[in-house]
Amino acid sequence: MTKRTSSQLWTGRFTEATDAFVEAFTASEHFDRRLYAQDIRGSIAHARMLATAGVLSDAERDAIIEGLAALRADIEQDDFDWSPALEDVHMNIEKRLTDRIGEAGKKLHTGRSRNDQVATDIRLYLRDAIDTICAQLLRFQQGLVDLAEREVDTILPGFTHLQVAQPVSFGHHMLAWYEMLVRDQERFEDCRKRMNVMPLGSAALAGTSFPIDRDMTCAELEFDRPSRNSLDAVSDRDFALEFTAAASILLTHTSRMAEEMIIWASPLVDFIDLPDRYCTGSSIMPQKKNPDVAEIVRGKTARVNGHLMALLTLMKSQPLAYNRDNQEDKEPLFDTVDTVRDSLHAFADMVPAMQVKKDTMYAAAKKGFATATDLADYLVRKGVPFRDAHAIVGAAVRHGVEQDMDLADMDLPTLRGFSETIDEDVYKILTLEGSVAARDHFGGTAPNQVRQRIAEARQRLEGAV
Ligand code: ARG
Repeated sequence: MTKRTSSQLWTGRFTEATDAFVEAFTASEHFDRRLYAQDIRGSIAHARMLATAGVLSDAERDAIIEGLAALRADIEQDDFDWSPALEDVHMNIEKRLTDRIGEAGKKLHTGRSRNDQVATDIRLYLRDAIDTICAQLLRFQQGLVDLAEREVDTILPGFTHLQVAQPVSFGHHMLAWYEMLVRDQERFEDCRKRMNVMPLGSAALAGTSFPIDRDMTCAELEFDRPSRNSLDAVSDRDFALEFTAAASILLTHTSRMAEEMIIWASPLVDFIDLPDRYCTGSSIMPQKKNPDVAEIVRGKTARVNGHLMALLTLMKSQPLAYNRDNQEDKEPLFDTVDTVRDSLHAFADMVPAMQVKKDTMYAAAKKGFATATDLADYLVRKGVPFRDAHAIVGAAVRHGVEQDMDLADMDLPTLRGFSETIDEDVYKILTLEGSVAARDHFGGTAPNQVRQRIAEARQRLEGAV
């Protein structure tokens, strides 16, 4: 048997070199190198703590910190010799550190394992990702509130079953999207709380025999507390599941927005115009202006839903503690982060820039008997039981369909033909403006209410930045 002279750091007990395929198959450095900054930050904190605990000398600590800082600069200048033979980001950095500073580098891994190291790195990485996502969400929310304010008096048909239902303020519609994003932000912030617990010190699975000070590393790495159980801390990835679930729900929301904008931008509906810079043309049909960005954001949901399923399945039935399966968490997670970042970038720019075609929206609301419920409510106020009022208005609508005529276009004798209780004052409530203004309670679509919700949203947004 040939004893391998390998660059790997764990070959002591091996008598045969790793199969070349296995080396490539098990390597993760080509994707987990993305964690380099978090890995170095964690290592610096660990080295400082080891020196305070008397495990490293001050000189060793300083050599390690300087060496790691130099490696970080090398990586950032794309001047770092990544090697798949060194498996992952952790061993690449540790080996290059030793190449650079000598003996002290070999002491860095005292009292720690890649298991607690990687669990720490991913948490640090996702914590930053959440902060970036929340900042993007705030920008998007701000854009929606601005648009809502501009269009608070614009009336469009509200739909149920994609059939004209009742008129609503376009501002109210934009604030519905805003509310979805507020909950998304809360979900990410909530996930961050459970994520912000430090595994470092758990070592491989059981902790370490060295006199470590976990509170010190915890403070330096800005975690809320050290983890309470080493087995759990190195093995669970529920924080990654929560993160991806929050991303899936967010992208489910953006897919709904995308779908509405795509429908609205269709010439058949013609409610909005999307900015040219956010649309693309057709290679064959010269007239086309396609809402591709909205369609791609709608499509991205599929990919993140897939990542969520991948991570759930990855964790299912895993025995304690760390298993190498967990290396498979990174690509779905990283792609989720990228997808959320790009989708939010696109929508935070594009959505508030849409041109609203007030006249088409208004005409569509007029055409669909959107004030039929208002007529029924009117009859109820005059003493007609709601169920009877519903039937009376139903008959009036049928007449309108046959005559191609809106309720507001019928003369009083015609309307009175359906119910004697109808008087001249009915026309006020049959207008779209009257209908919208009548829903004047907390949460309703009356522009007066929408203005108050906008003011509250602005206060919240100002407090957040
Ligand atoms: N690269 C591994 C991962 O991403 C971390 C190393 C743990 N490896 C090990 N053999 N215990 O999960």
